[in-house]
Amino acid sequence: MVCLGIETSCDETALALVSGKKILSQSLYSQVATHGLFGGVVPEIASREHYTALETLIEELFTASSACFDDITSIAVSRGPGLLGSLLVGIAFAKALHFSLDKPLLGINHLHAHILVNNIENTILYPALAILVSGGHTHIYYVTSPLQFTLLGYTLDDAVGEVYDKVGKMMGMPYPSGKLIDLCSQKITARHNTFTAPYIHNSSLNYSFSGLKTSAMHYIQKNPDCCISSKKEEDFLNNQHVQQLCADLAYTISHTLANKFVLAYKHCKENAMPVHSFLLAGGVASNTSLRSVLHNISMQYTIPLLYPSMPLCTDNAIMVAYTGDLLHSQYGYYHTATLSAIPRGQHIPNDYILQRV
Ligand code: KG4
Ligand code: ZN
Repeated sequence: MVCLGIETSCDETALALVSGKKILSQSLYSQVATHGLFGGVVPEIASREHYTALETLIEELFTASSACFDDITSIAVSRGPGLLGSLLVGIAFAKALHFSLDKPLLGINHLHAHILVNNIENTILYPALAILVSGGHTHIYYVTSPLQFTLLGYTLDDAVGEVYDKVGKMMGMPYPSGKLIDLCSQKITARHNTFTAPYIHNSSLNYSFSGLKTSAMHYIQKNPDCCISSKKEEDFLNNQHVQQLCADLAYTISHTLANKFVLAYKHCKENAMPVHSFLLAGGVASNTSLRSVLHNISMQYTIPLLYPSMPLCTDNAIMVAYTGDLLHSQYGYYHTATLSAIPRGQHIPNDYILQRV
């Protein structure tokens, strides 16, 4: 069984061939340099870049692998959430291959794929409590199987990656700035109480980060030494004011995320919902401070914490192909060619069709 995965939901164009837990080949084109010129993703440019990149990427994919088109047994594509135009480019590409190769098509929930990719390098123990932290989402899910995701908490305003990127932008950092903020924060050992954790003194399992973003903005206005116009990474890395702000921001974000995650765990315990593993996923899952804080929680409650290696945290097609292969080969699911794209903010139904044997 070989699944071809297609990922075009935002600003990475990616293809992968996966068989079970084995990654046969992958090709990825990051549009970051293009969008960086505008300080964030420009949807129309993203769609056009996906459209032009796919042809080269499919050639690269097969050049790097001994597999050929005939080996493909299913085609999986991110169907949402994401930018509508970008999703449509990937879905049109997937449908063209579905018709020409006569292989089953699967539309994958991009958020579920971020979480399920944890199973490639580790083994997810179900039921699991998962936290998905990315540029567009901050979700806590109770996951009982690769198909059963119950949303327990989410952000009421900004996603956590958005906070990193917007605060980075205020300091003059290139887009996206989460990774650079992480690197700067690691240079500091003595933390200051610059920020207070937002929206934690309540029993809600939801997050709210807009207040923290505003606090960071006021702090930067009062401390202009944190702003650097050169856009050079080393200038940020070597600036003590930047280092301190990044360390304090990363600490506050990680502890805010952990606070509600623990609350969600307690909610599960109180409601007879067993938890056998903790899962961390999404671009921000590569954050050093967050990994360390959740690691301590995992030790405290003696529940294993799983997170993917760095390249599998950010958007990639391996997670899409892995999920597609799993749902098709183990569950017998597929979609018809009426598969639609579902943009951010809309419900993604579990509308797979069960294959007759
Ligand atoms: O999952 P992802 O690749 O794309 C979305 O689906 O949104 O996540 C991208 C986000 C960006 O906001 C980026 O700044 C953030 O992940 N990010 C990080 C780190 N690496 C990437 N944030 C904090 N620390 C990092 N090490
Ligand atoms: Zn993503």
